[in-house]
Amino acid sequence: MKVLVVGSGGREHALVWKIARSSRVEKIYCAPGNAGIAGLAECIDIRPDDIEKLTDFAFANRIDLTVIGPEVSLAKGIVDLFESKGLKIFGPVQKAALLEASKVFSKEMMIKYNIPTAKSEIFTNSNDARNFVRIADIPIVIKADGLAAGKGVMVAATIEEAEKAIGIIMEDKHFGESGNRIIIEECLKGEEVSFMVFTDGENIVPMVGSQDHKRAYDDDKGDNTGGMGAYSPTPVINKNLSERIIDEVIRPIISGMAAEGIRYKGVLYAGLMITDQGPKVLEFNVRYGDPETQVILPRLKEDLVDIMEDVVNGRLAVRELNWDDRACICVTCASGGYPGKYEKGKLISGLEKIRDLKDVIVFHAGTIQQGARIMTNGGRVLGITALGKNIAQAAKRAYQAVKEVCFEEMHYRKDIGLRAIEKSIIKE
Ligand code: AMP
Ligand code: GLY
Repeated sequence: MKVLVVGSGGREHALVWKIARSSRVEKIYCAPGNAGIAGLAECIDIRPDDIEKLTDFAFANRIDLTVIGPEVSLAKGIVDLFESKGLKIFGPVQKAALLEASKVFSKEMMIKYNIPTAKSEIFTNSNDARNFVRIADIPIVIKADGLAAGKGVMVAATIEEAEKAIGIIMEDKHFGESGNRIIIEECLKGEEVSFMVFTDGENIVPMVGSQDHKRAYDDDKGDNTGGMGAYSPTPVINKNLSERIIDEVIRPIISGMAAEGIRYKGVLYAGLMITDQGPKVLEFNVRYGDPETQVILPRLKEDLVDIMEDVVNGRLAVRELNWDDRACICVTCASGGYPGKYEKGKLISGLEKIRDLKDVIVFHAGTIQQGARIMTNGGRVLGITALGKNIAQAAKRAYQAVKEVCFEEMHYRKDIGLRAIEKSIIKE
């Protein structure tokens, strides 16, 4: 069969890498892909938001299954468009994608269906928002309603910071229309985890848990990024908690969507804070997480294409998936300045030294091939991923590989997985 993957990041490289392992797949296309993906798939120069062109391409090339990486294609309604042409596509329809594309919609759904989440207020006017934060408890969290590439959320430690965030989002319109409405919510305390499931709108099959590192620098300092690294499993999620998350969060939102007349199909991602009172939802994403996917798919011991087809066909069998017991960790190598301004076009050296290392996989994100050379082409450049007996071993292996790679002003966090390693040491 022929598969098309949409996107160009580390998540899409991991998807292509896993799909390439399916014995049923003869040909993979990726739109637009990157230099790493080009080794496994034919890269097509179509942007993820050009959903008409993607549909035409899939139709003309008789693609059997299309898999969507980024939220932007889903929010634009790519699934509805593909389905209207009889094409098979993995991901939720536009109305379901609102769970990620509108934080206000998502919050309203959580309240309506009793899903635990932070207490919040919605504002459409910056003066009202400013008046509210002046008398609110701090820290407090300010969120733009719409999509903002993971950067529309600010955790304010002071009233001044909160007012600044309101100004940036609502008055300066830093995220455009996404800032027409904001949510101001209580700051939750606890440990943050990512929990993803496959669902066909009725049946739910969970993936293993993972944790990502959103802040730019060690010790969770600096601005939020698209993700500086991740690991799986996480010591925070045991079987009990996993069941609780499904019962209190995942099933109610999927059946809530169904009650609203929306069948949710694809991957549902819950970003959760595990508080003293249990799991509370920070956000829903309507797609595979990035970089969570890079640490989860290498552990999956089943054919991903089979699972995704079952989802698309609405016949996902409820079962426990088979997972590699080993731990997996991914360290993001980013361009200097990221998540702020950064330069592209830096030569990446050392990749050949780690290409054949055992249990190390280099997922490319912002990379581009120029002749024989691979250059940087984005903020997050590489996700150096390793498997190991436990997180400590996986981390050791990943960091050994990171040391071999270099480009001008490359930066990466040195503490990916450290919290999990410390926890396991305390347990031992
Ligand atoms: P979101 O895009 O809503 O997941 O927010 C991005 C990041 O901001 C999350 O991963 C958390 O680290 C943080 N965050 C969001 N909401 C809250 C909250 N209510 N309390 C504490 N931290 C939060
Ligand atoms: N890792 C966070 C996300 O995929 O949104």
